[in-house]
Amino acid sequence: MEIVSKEILAPRIVKLVVKAPAIAAKAQPGHFVVVRRSEKGERIPLTIADFSREAGTITLIIQEVGKSTALINAMEVGESFLDILGPLGTPYPIEKLGTVVAVAGGLGAAPLYPKVKALYEAGNKVITILGAQTKDLLILQDELKAVSHQLLITTDDGSFGHKGLVTALLGQVLQTETVNEVITIGPVPMMEACCNITRELGIKTVVSLNAVMVDGTGMCGGCRVTVGGETKFCCVDGPAFDGLAVDFKELRLRQRYYSAQEKEAYHNHHHGGEGCKCHAN
Ligand code: FES
Repeated sequence: MEIVSKEILAPRIVKLVVKAPAIAAKAQPGHFVVVRRSEKGERIPLTIADFSREAGTITLIIQEVGKSTALINAMEVGESFLDILGPLGTPYPIEKLGTVVAVAGGLGAAPLYPKVKALYEAGNKVITILGAQTKDLLILQDELKAVSHQLLITTDDGSFGHKGLVTALLGQVLQTETVNEVITIGPVPMMEACCNITRELGIKTVVSLNAVMVDGTGMCGGCRVTVGGETKFCCVDGPAFDGLAVDFKELRLRQRYYSAQEKEAYHNHHHGGEGCKCHAN
């Protein structure tokens, strides 16, 4: 569980390659792990953004959004996680479909990358749309470019690529291409907006949901979502689901449950005398 390499991809976004041979041996696109840094540490679910069976490593990309992720991002090469549970979740089905459009918003590029790579290697024509608020927050451009027939980039402020939202580019692509499936991963409003476009056109759309998770094994119910009128658990039934059947309104409400506590813990960590050194370098 030792960190073998660390790279800062963007402000507060870190890529860690971690020695975890047993997990790397079984990892598939769509799987995730739950990590703990220390005995009292929060359990953090993280997508397996890449893996190497040969090297026995998995790649994790972590955005600092609270105290626990700040502590993980402060870890250095040679340090180890207390434990990593996984691989968890249901792998994303990889089939030869024809033309697939993959849409990533912000950190969504991390879970999207292994799926795009597998779809590309399975012989699909892959058009990838990568978006972020600003140039500095674009991640995995080179990696996605290497496994896409076309990579379109957009930023909200126009600092790189097109100016505007990924949905504008998705609409343009769908006007000119016959598309068999869309896969979209990013903030919930973005995935919902993509689904609103594809629903009109009747295009199958897969989303990957990052609902609040606790145990990651289907026991606590924390990650439940409603899909097609049925209760599903993101950690065992997902995280990938039929986006056209997801109850996004309920998901948005559930995601706000713990935001106040998260903000408080983060504030106390950086400013409350816990002596953090997260931004020391
Ligand atoms: S995280 Fe507990 S049921 Fe999914």
